[in-house]
Amino acid sequence: MDKLLIEGGISLRGEIRIAGAKNSALPILAATLLTHDTVQICNLPHLFDITTMIELLGCMGVQPIIDEKLNVEVNSSTIKHFNAPYELVKTMRASILVLGPLLTRYGRAEVALPGGCAIGSRPVNLHIAALQTMGADIVVEDGYIKASTKGKLRGAHIFMDMVTVTGTENVMMAATLADGQTIIENAAREPEVVDLANCLVKMGADITGQGSDTIVINGVSELKGCSYSVMPDRIETGTYLIAAAATKGRIKVKDTRPDILESVLSKLEQVGAEIKVGENWIELDMHGKRPKSVSLRTAPYPAFPTDMQAQFTALNTIATGTGSITETVFENRFMHVHEMNRMGASIKVEGNTVIVEGVDRLKGAPVMATDLRASASLIIAGLVSDNVTTVDRIYHIDRGYECIEEKLQLLGARIRRIAS
Ligand code: EPU
Repeated sequence: MDKLLIEGGISLRGEIRIAGAKNSALPILAATLLTHDTVQICNLPHLFDITTMIELLGCMGVQPIIDEKLNVEVNSSTIKHFNAPYELVKTMRASILVLGPLLTRYGRAEVALPGGCAIGSRPVNLHIAALQTMGADIVVEDGYIKASTKGKLRGAHIFMDMVTVTGTENVMMAATLADGQTIIENAAREPEVVDLANCLVKMGADITGQGSDTIVINGVSELKGCSYSVMPDRIETGTYLIAAAATKGRIKVKDTRPDILESVLSKLEQVGAEIKVGENWIELDMHGKRPKSVSLRTAPYPAFPTDMQAQFTALNTIATGTGSITETVFENRFMHVHEMNRMGASIKVEGNTVIVEGVDRLKGAPVMATDLRASASLIIAGLVSDNVTTVDRIYHIDRGYECIEEKLQLLGARIRRIAS
């Protein structure tokens, strides 16, 4: 299993470009099941999760084609099977995103029920309840969600009990081909939901309200092919900016979107960073200063994202002062804390809050990644440590960060991948 070896102590400097957003590329790939025409997807990130979603389409008999510019073309007219097997769902929970498209287009779907994972129990009850309200027959047996519908799904008024990103996406995709109007209340407002909606509209869907908490979808009889470019990854953007701030550096990230990172940029300013933005770039400069601790609370967009909580925890470990970080989205997203304490951090867990008292320096140690964003936070901890840190189980990082060691090397970091 590969490891990352990091020699800390270097301030990050330089420029990198940001890849397409994993969490909008995944639902957009699932949305290609909604039409028999070819959908061309541009700016797909090169990530393990994207490969898994392409493999899932392959299992169903759909063979995506990668063109010379690394764009992916999907034509789902060759589909033969309507199921997502456990082997794939267990490696990527986002496989659940094929449920809505398969059900609305083909009237049947079998998707393995995702289990709990390293960050929480993560049930999909709200996906199931909403599709049932739209007329689907759904049973959960033998570890599978078995769904079918006689005729078309029906438009419905759906109130989501909790804000759910993939739940909103699944229902929105299902509603595009349903009979009549669907209204999703308490919908997720995440930019990735908006990106998917924009792609669906380009395919001919009738959707309004994306980006607000009420999305209205009028079902249409069919969707058509289109070419769509995935938006930049805001979590990748934020991760590099936090890494630069933690290392007292100065970096510019290009091909990104400052307008969807307001909560994160405002925290980085509190840390002491000077931030400059253009339409598609962000520059961060710490002017060589040690960061100041910040306190934050995660919540659905536009509040502070849970996917950036671990990275700020890493920054706080070596900042001046004490910061408290509260996680409200997932119940078990502090696994990185124990690894950071092994590196000399001073972090206490109190329920769903961690109190981080900044120390002068961390000491490198062998540490283990437990999930994608925890891995990123351990790399940041390694970058601000004395000596050498090795991060084990980095298959987690390859799921969601494209060429992370190459990008960090471009910024001057001493980091390399070693096979063990
Ligand atoms: N929830 C339920 N029932 C449901 C659905 C969700 O109780 O039917 C709960 C979850 O257990 C959680 C909360 O609602 O406590 C929010 O979960 P959500 O459904 O929004 O999460 P998700 O859609 O499974 C997406 C991202 C995650 C990101 C979360 C929150 C994708 C593919 N994944 O997950 O991304 O953390 O939204 O923003 O879009 C990551 O990229 O590292 C990652 C974990």
